[in-house]
Order: sequence, then structure tokens, then C-alpha cells
Amino acid sequence: MDPASLQKQRRISIFRNWISLGGLIVAGGSMFAFLLLFILDALAPVSNPYVGILAYLIAPGFLVTGLSMIAAGLFIERGQLKKQSPGSSIPLLIVDLSRRRDRRNLILLSSAALIFMVMTAVGSYRSYHFTESVEFCGQACHTVMRPEFTTYLHSPHARVACSQCHIGPGAAWYVKAKISGLHQVYAVMRHTYEMPISTPIKNLRPAQETCEQCHWPKKFVGNIDRTYRHYLSDTNNTPFEVRLLLKVGGGDPTHGPVGGIHWHMNVGNKVEYIASDEQRQVIPWVRITDSQGVVTEYKTAKFKSDPKDVVRTMDCMDCHNRPAHSYQTPNDAIELAMSLGQIDATIPNIKKESVKVLTKKYDGEKEALQNIATVLVEKYPNDARIRSAVDAVQKIYCNNFFPDMKANWKVYPNDIGHKNWPGCFRCHDGDHTTADGKKNIKANDCNACHIILAQGSGDELEQLDSKGHEFKHPGGDYADMKCNDCHTGGD
Ligand code: HEC
Ligand code: HEC
Ligand code: HEC
Ligand code: HEC
Ligand code: HEC
Ligand code: HEC
Repeated sequence: MDPASLQKQRRISIFRNWISLGGLIVAGGSMFAFLLLFILDALAPVSNPYVGILAYLIAPGFLVTGLSMIAAGLFIERGQLKKQSPGSSIPLLIVDLSRRRDRRNLILLSSAALIFMVMTAVGSYRSYHFTESVEFCGQACHTVMRPEFTTYLHSPHARVACSQCHIGPGAAWYVKAKISGLHQVYAVMRHTYEMPISTPIKNLRPAQETCEQCHWPKKFVGNIDRTYRHYLSDTNNTPFEVRLLLKVGGGDPTHGPVGGIHWHMNVGNKVEYIASDEQRQVIPWVRITDSQGVVTEYKTAKFKSDPKDVVRTMDCMDCHNRPAHSYQTPNDAIELAMSLGQIDATIPNIKKESVKVLTKKYDGEKEALQNIATVLVEKYPNDARIRSAVDAVQKIYCNNFFPDMKANWKVYPNDIGHKNWPGCFRCHDGDHTTADGKKNIKANDCNACHIILAQGSGDELEQLDSKGHEFKHPGGDYADMKCNDCHTGGD
């Protein structure tokens, strides 16, 4: 054989090894699968998280494996050729542009490489977006994220992507999230995740970099007029409403008076605190630094400093900790359904019975839904109105109770008010005083944060008082106890 054809044969033969051939099949197959899935994903009206996982995570993974196999095979084969005939020259790739065949091959090769690079770029861009998408975060591992995904869909943030609050912009947090994400995927596969997922989330990104990307903290909100509709647990389900004027205010003098609830967010003030429990429900120490740099420290009698104490700067999440995942209390959910007419408020005792059936302990969703139906139908055997009530109670259960993850209102406190959880009263309870005992955090003044414009039912609701009514508690006087000593949301 003449040297030229020998070289040619050798060049071909180094591609002829099992590893490279295998790699070629894997790479070709995954490329085809990627193309198919890509088209499927692009054409589908709603994206499906599984198509996404296959197309943007698994197929590219196989493609890379295939390509690495081809390269590894070549490398090994070359080594062996060298061993078999030492001395002989290992075929070099000689491109001679004066030859027509070489020119044609070069063009073919570079077009293929270009197409491949574009597809890789599109693929990795889509992979990046995919792992940031609501489908990936919320739906890919059904059971685990179902509570958060369901509550999110019913929140004012249903159109905000999970990653905008949980990751935020920038490469550093993206990488951080992906590393913790890998750990989570592993935990899901091994079933070692915690149930319920505990909060507050450690290392949640500060609100300045998430919430404040959309909400401008300087914005002056002013007063919000909000009505809280309730029904008592008596035979007539007596309505009881409270119409509050919440003094949300603002935190920046160029946009309105500084004061009110958002005063904490005054750009000049810094409020810091130490919580003595994991869920930040007990706050024995608070410090404010105002715009002039004056520092005031408040603490409760029980507070003892500990080197392990973590000082946290207050931000949006210390009040709005459930902006996207609000697990409604049975009490609130039933009252809402009653006020919307989904549960007929003229059915005697229906408030009490519905809350009772919702708060019973169940092993799973199926058992719960069945039990809700049988118990209510048995209680009201001849009442046609109970059908829609059963539907409403079952729907409330599905949207707010997640026995598979042990998630419900009880394990996720909401810090915005003070009725069912300590909330604002974690600091505004009168027990937080300065060292000299002269000053305490605004407390026991029921008009500090809101005024009661009207309360009660029927005509009483028309008697508006711009100075604020004194609260007439429906269950009689509540003495000096905290609201959440009695109110737990159900149970
Ligand atoms: C508007 C911002 C926002 C959006 C959008 C959002 N979250 Fe959250 N999420 C939060 C906050 C705030 C918390 C509570 C953090 C805490 O208490 O430490 C939280 C808590 C969680 C928790 C902890 C368990 C729990 O129920 O509190 C999980 C898991 C979670 N989110 C997943 C998701 C998923 C999945 C999505 C998208 C489907 C999503 N989040 C969308 C802000 C958001
Ligand atoms: C990507 C933008 C975006 C991000 C990030 C975001 N929000 Fe929102 N937020 C919205 C939109 C949009 C609304 C709904 C506005 C409307 O329809 O009135 C909203 C509404 C709200 C409301 C009013 C809810 C109500 O009951 O009316 C609060 C409170 C709020 N967001 C707090 C937060 C907090 C706290 C965070 C951070 C954890 C956050 N938001 C992050 C866009 C965002
Ligand atoms: C001290 C607690 C507290 C802090 C801190 C706080 N808020 Fe609020 N915010 C409230 C309360 C209370 C309301 C009244 C509405 C309610 O009760 O749900 C409110 C209302 C709002 C609203 C609704 C306004 C509307 O027009 O409906 C938005 C949006 C909002 N806050 C965003 C934020 C953002 C963003 C931050 C962080 C920069 C923040 N809040 C910090 C307590 C707080
Ligand atoms: C971490 C502790 C803490 C929490 C939680 C907290 N606050 Fe405050 N708040 C303070 C401190 C400290 C001050 C300033 C007290 C002072 O020195 O006058 C303050 C002041 C206020 C003021 C008076 C602002 C002014 O105009 O002077 C209002 C109104 C207020 N808070 C409402 C609320 C509401 C509503 C909540 C719950 C949604 C809440 N706070 C939760 C610590 C807290
Ligand atoms: C530190 C601020 C603050 C103080 C002080 C305060 N409240 Fe409130 N209160 C709130 C906020 C914020 C809400 C709204 C919670 C929400 O939007 O869910 C609220 C809600 C309420 C509601 C309606 C709750 C419901 O679900 O119907 C009543 C009633 C009420 N407060 C009574 C009182 C009484 C009585 C006092 C005096 C003992 C008081 N508040 C003191 C901040 C405060
Ligand atoms: C000593 C226990 C106790 C304390 C403390 C207490 N309540 Fe109540 N509350 C009750 C009882 C009992 C009822 C009647 C429940 C019913 O008929 O459904 C009630 C009813 C209510 C209702 C109307 C019905 C409902 O279920 O929501 C509101 C609103 C309310 N309380 C708000 C408050 C607020 C705000 C505070 C704190 C300022 C407070 N309560 C403190 C025991 C208490």
C-alpha cells in the first residue's frame, strides 16, 4: 500500500473503535431527542415540567456524555496505534485548501460546528431559564412543593416567578441557589427532606434585593381602608365586621409624611432585633438607630444576652412573611366562603360545624374529603343547601391543608397582624422598655396602627367614627390577654 492510502486508512480506523461508535450513537440519539423535545416544548400551549426536564437537563447530559465517549475512544485508539507501530507517524490531519475535497469537507465541518454551537447556546439558555421557571420550582417534584405552589397560585404574586423572590438577580445568588438546589434534588430523591419544610428559610436573600426590585420602599401608601368580615360560632352565625383604617403611611419625606406602619421602612431608620426562637416568634430585644444616629435599645425583663444571638435587621419579610404562601386559617377560610355565598350563612351553626370538620385530624387528603362530606351530610340530612357547602369546605381543604407534607396554617405563622399569631405584638406588647424603664415601644394604644371606623353588623356598620371606635369585642371583654392567647385560627 502506498503511504497516502495507508494514512487514509489509519485515519478512518482510529474512528472505528467501540467506545467512539457507542458515543456517536448516544450523541446522535440525544441530539435527535433534544430536537424533538425542543419542538414539542415550543409548540405546546402550556409548558410541561417533565418535557422541560428531559429537554434541557437530561438530553444535553446525554449529548455531553456521547461526545466525551467519542473523544475518549479516539484518544485510546491513538495510544494503541502508537504502541502497535512505534516509530510510524501518527496520522496528522492535513488540510490542503487547494484540494476541492478538503474545501468541501471544511465547509461541511464548520457549518455542522456552527449549528451545534447555536443549538448548545439555545439549549443552555433554555436550561438556565428552565431551572428558574415556576414549573421547575413548583411542579417538578409534586408532593414536596405542592403546598407552596398551591398557595402561591392563590396569592397576589401568582404572576411573579418563584425565582424573583427566592433567588433574585445576579450571578452569585444564581450559583448559590443552584448548589443548594442540587442538594434539594438529592434530598427529594432520597426522601430525606423535612416535613413540613421549616421556616424562616435560612439564607433567604434580603428583601432589598428581591421585594424591593418591584416594590419601592419609599412609596407613600397612606391609609388603607379594609373590612374584616366574621361570623360568630353561634346558631345564627351572627355576622361581625370590623372596618379598619390601617395607617400604613410611608417612609420617605419627599413623598409624604413619614410615619405609620411603614415607618419601620424609613430609609433613615434601622430597626434590629434578636429572636430567641427559630421561627422568630419571640423577640426579647430591639434596637433602633434613627436618621440622626441616635440609638435606642428596648428589651423585655426576660432577655439575657447570649453570644449565639443573631442580630437581624428588620425588613419587609418581618411583617409580610406570607406574601406568596398564605395558608388560610380554617376560621378565615370558612368566613370568606360564607361572605361569598359559597357556604349559605343561613344554615344554622354552619360556621361552627364547618370549622370543626376542617380541623379534625386526618391521615390523608382522601380520608379528609370523604369525612368532610359524610359528617356534614349527616348533620344536615334534609338540607339541600349543604351540597354546595360540602364542595366549598372540600375546596378549602385542598387549597390550605397538605397532609403529605404536614403543611397547614399551624406550622406557618403569619406576622402581619396580631389576632392569630403574635405578629406586631412581638415588639408592640408594652413589655419592651428602655434600660431606664422610661420608654416603651408603642403599645396598648389601639389607635397607633389603625382606627376602627365601624364594627358590628347591620346598621352599626354605618356609624362611622373618624376618631376611631373603641373595640367592642364580640365574645365579651378579653381582659388584658393577648389576642392569640385565645384566637388560634381554628381548633
Ligand atoms: C412574592 C415573593 C415569593 C414568590 C413569588 C414565591 N415565594 Fe416562596 N416564599 C416567600 C417568602 C417571603 C417565604 C417565607 C420565608 C420565611 O418565612 O423565611 C417563602 C417560603 C417558601 C418555602 C418554605 C416553606 C413555606 O411554605 O413557607 C418554599 C418551599 C417556597 N417558598 C417555595 C416557593 C415556590 C416553589 C414558588 C413558586 C411556585 C415560590 N416559593 C414563590 C416568597 C415568595
Ligand atoms: C417581580 C415583581 C415582584 C416582586 C419581586 C415582589 N412583588 Fe409584591 N407584588 C407584585 C405585584 C405585581 C403585586 C400585585 C399588585 C396588584 O395587583 O395590585 C404585588 C403585591 C404585593 C402586596 C400587596 C398584596 C395585597 O394583598 O394586595 C404586598 C404586601 C407585596 N406585594 C409584598 C411583597 C414582598 C414582601 C415581596 C418580597 C418577598 C414582594 N412583594 C416581591 C410584584 C412583586
Ligand atoms: C412593620 C411591618 C411592615 C413592614 C416592615 C413592611 N410592611 Fe408593608 N404593610 C404592612 C401592613 C400592616 C400593611 C397593610 C395591609 C395589610 O394589613 O395586609 C402593609 C401594606 C403593604 C402593601 C400594600 C399596599 C396596598 O396598596 O395594598 C405593600 C405593597 C407593602 N406593604 C409592601 C411592603 C414592602 C415592599 C416592604 C419592605 C420594603 C414592606 N411592605 C414592609 C406592614 C409592613
Ligand atoms: C422587631 C420589632 C417590631 C415589630 C415586629 C413591629 N414593630 Fe412597629 N415599631 C418597632 C419599633 C422599635 C418602633 C419605634 C418605637 C419608638 O421608639 O418610638 C416601632 C414603631 C411603630 C409605629 C410608630 C411609627 C411612628 O410613626 O412613630 C407603628 C405605627 C408601628 N410600629 C406599627 C407596627 C405594625 C403594624 C407591626 C406589625 C405588622 C409592627 N409595627 C411590628 C418595632 C417593631
Ligand atoms: C402595632 C400595631 C397595632 C396595634 C398597636 C394594634 N393593632 Fe390591631 N391590627 C394591626 C394590623 C396590622 C392589623 C391588620 C392585620 C391584617 O391585615 O391581617 C390589625 C387588625 C386588627 C383587627 C381586625 C382583625 C380581624 O381579623 O378582624 C382588630 C379587631 C384589631 N386589630 C384590634 C386591635 C385592638 C383592640 C388593639 C389594642 C389592644 C390593637 N388592634 C392594636 C396592628 C395593630
Ligand atoms: C379570652 C379569650 C379572647 C381574647 C384574649 C380575645 N378574644 Fe376575640 N374572641 C374570643 C371569643 C370566645 C370569640 C367568639 C368566637 C365566636 O363566637 O366565634 C371572639 C371573637 C372575636 C372576633 C369575631 C369572630 C372571629 O372568630 O373572628 C374577632 C374579630 C375577635 N375576637 C378579635 C379579637 C382581637 C383583635 C383580640 C385582641 C385584641 C381578641 N379577639 C382577644 C375570645 C378572645
